[in-house]
Amino acid sequence: MKATIVCLPGDGIGPEVVRATQSVLEAVADAFGHTFEMEDYPIGGIAIDQFQSPLPDFTLQACQNADAVLLGAVGGPQWDDPDAPLRPEQGLLKIRKELGVYANLRPVKPHPRLLHTSPLKPEKIANVDLIFVRELTSGVYFGQPKRRWMEAGEERAVDTMTYTESEVRRIAHLAFQLARQRRRKVTSIDKANVLETSRLWRKVVTEVAREYPDVTLEHLLVDAAAMYLIQRPSSFDILVTENMFGDILTDEASMLAGSMGNMPSASLGEQQNRHGRPRGLYEPIHGSAPDIAGKGMANPVGTILSAALMLRHSLGLEEEAQTLERAVEETLSLGILTPDLGGSANTEAMTRAIIEQLAPSRSPAWDQAAQTIR
Ligand code: NAD
Ligand code: IPM
Ligand code: MN
Repeated sequence: MKATIVCLPGDGIGPEVVRATQSVLEAVADAFGHTFEMEDYPIGGIAIDQFQSPLPDFTLQACQNADAVLLGAVGGPQWDDPDAPLRPEQGLLKIRKELGVYANLRPVKPHPRLLHTSPLKPEKIANVDLIFVRELTSGVYFGQPKRRWMEAGEERAVDTMTYTESEVRRIAHLAFQLARQRRRKVTSIDKANVLETSRLWRKVVTEVAREYPDVTLEHLLVDAAAMYLIQRPSSFDILVTENMFGDILTDEASMLAGSMGNMPSASLGEQQNRHGRPRGLYEPIHGSAPDIAGKGMANPVGTILSAALMLRHSLGLEEEAQTLERAVEETLSLGILTPDLGGSANTEAMTRAIIEQLAPSRSPAWDQAAQTIR
């Protein structure tokens, strides 16, 4: 297969984890006889500095012509002035909106080797296997009006939380369809005791559920959901929620899996690529980690596993995706871990180890490299 993958390294550790993932994708292409054309384009803070835009038009255009898009992370302290007219995060929100990727899938499944790196008790998390389905292109992130102004001698600001019935309906369907491929349980999370958008959310999700009588539906209020995620994490299968609740709860859920650095995501919508599959946006859930940027110690697993989701969903390469996921699992089992996972491997060492696991017979040089790492 020939595929065009647009890469958006972004800021901080973004370029480090994307570079690592590109070398893994090249190894996958080699092993399976594919050609992946990968080209980098600017987004985020670096794009503001160089092109005065967090998402230059040429980057957007390249993404719209790609088979899939792989993103690192955007943002950092140098662009954090609350009065700055341009912010790196605007680029991320815009690319999500323009690609129409309304469903952000964030799977959480702790690796057995990492049970002890979670702050939670190993027996609580041993059987956790859940997927968050986060609505990604609406809600308070995008609602208008959104602005800040002077009024009666002080600054005032407004954000607007908004949902339409169809926006809730399409993501609810996706959640139920995913549940059918798994343990047939959907947990819908809202704040229906306070928010009008949540009451609409709950009503529509309940309606959609009638079309899936074989799937169990549970409603939780978001504050209680935050607690249950810690108290009974293995009771969840699919969790579906609006944009901001999903953002917050998935960082919380990442601690079930030991580190945010391990967490991949796939964002899917209705646009199709030239293979007749969804043109997805694939990104780790973590940010640009300014505290460790440039040190070569970022955990590349979240981005590498995002690439596995890309192989599966956008390129239809299921065997390749599984092979890559197994290579990551094997590497973790061997105890080759970055510092966030309690190990001492750097980004490069971990990446090499994954490549070695991918195709053990490919090159004896990898074996040697892996030996020295261990
Ligand atoms: P963060 O996710 O960047 O970092 C939180 C903590 O997790 C830090 O201690 C960091 O070192 C650690 N961490 C994150 N990813 C890691 C990895 N791959 N390996 C090892 N450790 C890792 O969150 P933050 O510090 O709140 O935000 C920093 C910047 O990133 C902000 O500007 C924010 O807007 C941006 N951000 C971007 C994205 C994105 O581009 N998708 C996501 C979240 C935050
Ligand atoms: C994420 C990030 C983004 C979000 C920010 C950087 C805009 O936190 O992908 O989880 O809130 O969606
Ligand atoms: Mn987030």
